[in-house]
Amino acid sequence: MFRWADNITAGDTFTMKISIISGSHRKASQSEKVGHFIQRTLEEQKLCDETWLFKLAENPLPLWDESIWEGNPEWKKHLDPLSAELASSDGFVVISPEWHGQVPSGLKNFFLMWGKGELAHKPALIVTVSSADGGAYPVAELRMSSYKNNRICYIPEQIIVRNVESVLNDDPAKNNPDADGYFRERIKYALGILKEYAQAMGQVRASGAADLSTFKNGM
Ligand SMILES: Cc1cc2nc3c(=O)[nH]c(=O)nc-3n(C[C@H](O)[C@H](O)[C@H](O)COP(=O)(O)O)c2cc1C
Repeated sequence: MFRWADNITAGDTFTMKISIISGSHRKASQSEKVGHFIQRTLEEQKLCDETWLFKLAENPLPLWDESIWEGNPEWKKHLDPLSAELASSDGFVVISPEWHGQVPSGLKNFFLMWGKGELAHKPALIVTVSSADGGAYPVAELRMSSYKNNRICYIPEQIIVRNVESVLNDDPAKNNPDADGYFRERIKYALGILKEYAQAMGQVRASGAADLSTFKNGM
């Protein structure tokens, strides 16, 4: 078995892992609900072989500080297991609620941590969440300022889950049938595209052209 990042030769078989980051700090958040729906869809549609859902609920990561660069053992305890999960992923779904027209600070903090290429040159689908008709601001913010040094690659497709309380609930009685049906189909479509990018971008990393040792940070 090979990962997509390995050298690819005809006849090889591959495993694909998609990881989902739920960017809300709130317990039992709507982002987490959407994250579980996305994880289930990836598995039921057989879009990948493995999934991993990481929640920022209740702030599992402290605010970044520079001892991270000095190998502080406390930081290593937090980061090493996450680094391994992210590094073994071929693609990502980044879920962000709109809070005061922004991405939650815990999610921006998360993006400061990954300097070893864990996310680099791997595709990501942005999914944003609003209890009303918001959700565009976090899309714009993520596309503008969350990728430079970690080099995550947002695909052009995105999902904005408006009126999130009335869709993607397990209990059909809580769903607005039209909107719910639309989001279920649209998410399936977007995840299908993400899968194709994940397959294709393995070749970018395997080519060696995107080596990170010389130009460690983005410009
Ligand atoms: C601190 C805070 C600020 C919010 N600001 C906005 C906002 O600017 N725009 C918006 O559409 N919804 C806003 N909301 C409502 C959220 O869209 C709604 O609570 C949603 O469920 C948040 O996602 P979460 O449950 O994953 O945290 C805000 C909610 C919180 C908790």
